[in-house]
Amino acid sequence: MTVPKKLFIKTYGCQMNVYDSERMAEALGGQGYVETQSPDDADMILLNTCHIREKAAEKVYSELGRFRGLKDARPDLKIGVAGCVAQAEGEEIMRRQPLVDLVVGPQSYHRLPELEAKTRNGDKALDTDFPPEDKFEVLKNRPKSKRAPAAFLTVQEGCDKFCAFCVVPYTRGAEVSRPADRILSEARDLVDRGVREITLLGQNVNAYHGAGATGDLTLAGLIWELDKIDGLERIRFTTSHPNDMGDDLIEAHGTCAKLMPYLHLPVQSGSDRILKRMNRSHTAESYLRLIERIRAARPDILMSGDFIVGFPEETEADFQATLDLIEEVNYGYAYSFKYSTRPGTPAAERPQVDDDVASERLQRLQALITRQQRSAQDAMVGREVSVLFEKPGRFDGQMVGKSDYLHAVHVKDSGAAVGDIARVKIVSSGANSLAGERV
Ligand code: SAH
Ligand code: SF4
Ligand code: F3S
Repeated sequence: MTVPKKLFIKTYGCQMNVYDSERMAEALGGQGYVETQSPDDADMILLNTCHIREKAAEKVYSELGRFRGLKDARPDLKIGVAGCVAQAEGEEIMRRQPLVDLVVGPQSYHRLPELEAKTRNGDKALDTDFPPEDKFEVLKNRPKSKRAPAAFLTVQEGCDKFCAFCVVPYTRGAEVSRPADRILSEARDLVDRGVREITLLGQNVNAYHGAGATGDLTLAGLIWELDKIDGLERIRFTTSHPNDMGDDLIEAHGTCAKLMPYLHLPVQSGSDRILKRMNRSHTAESYLRLIERIRAARPDILMSGDFIVGFPEETEADFQATLDLIEEVNYGYAYSFKYSTRPGTPAAERPQVDDDVASERLQRLQALITRQQRSAQDAMVGREVSVLFEKPGRFDGQMVGKSDYLHAVHVKDSGAAVGDIARVKIVSSGANSLAGERV
């Protein structure tokens, strides 16, 4: 019997990278690799990287440097870089860090077996093409192992929006939707393996327009098809662009019971002047009206968003407009970032905001968001929610899961198994999670 080789994958960045890392592990599974939790005993180390902000990209090089000792001790160890840094920097990675044997972009994962074979012959392997074949189809023959109850499923990839700050259209390429039948069969397969909740992924997921049995389907159309799958209990999707929020999708939030009451809808700024310079093609007002319509369809929906502070030429008045918008929306969650200059994007050439000013704004914005997040979480106390149990907690009989609103919920003496969905009454609100009792 051959001894399996060990693969260590470290994942950075967005949920799509998490999904991609699973696919890469499967692709290399066919080459005799099994996953390991530590780089120390690995035969191959793969970093699945993110290029969205400068810090994210630089982390890769410092992490790679740390593998020198391992490679000195075991020259057969192969080191690979995948993901958006691989796509953006390509061969430059091998020049900067000669330890690297393999570089593979997000559109070429299905070619990993050939690339790995090349490294076994002592050659360097690089593939950052945007190949014509469907990588999802090539990668679909995964082993039928049991899965955690919540899973990601990529339905759309890439972006044509070209926001002035963003690298995604360059690293992930043009927007492409997967055909509906392939998504549905992947979803059925996940459900057969224990999955109860699926989060549909795409950089612009609500622009989904994949081929269906009788013409193209919108994301809402796809959600209604998924709704028919017995055993699939919860559907989520991320990330959405305000301009692609179709009427049928808004309506589905009110009428599709499996669609969870949580929506991540990034706005980036509350200043129309900045939104225009960001090339966002929506205004603060149009975003606020959109949220009104979404809340009319589903009054209890929890809104989440992304914000960039210190975008080139942002004034105090522009920043104040962002705070005003946040006050008006009242978010349940939000992610906020200091603008990071990305070479090759239009905003990189413009007058930059002083770093101290941007840091101070970020602090103020985060303080406001934290307050809103906290009060949204506290408002759950006394309410009944449904919880999907994902893992045992620290104490005997305790289980941890997610509510329909995506809050983490701890339940003592739950009497539940991983994968169960139960009604839970929330009794208290802690720092980052809720505690509840089975109803
Ligand atoms: N496709 C998604 C998210 C893309 S990246 C969308 O359009 O919403 C996730 C978030 O990172 C963005 O929403 C944005 O807030 C942030 N981001 C992107 N580029 C950035 C940059 N150059 N500097 C700081 N934050 C950035
Ligand atoms: Fe980036 Fe804008 Fe596309 Fe989102 S919509 S991925 S922020 S270019
Ligand atoms: Fe990062 Fe690429 Fe995702 S840049 S956020 S890993 S699409």
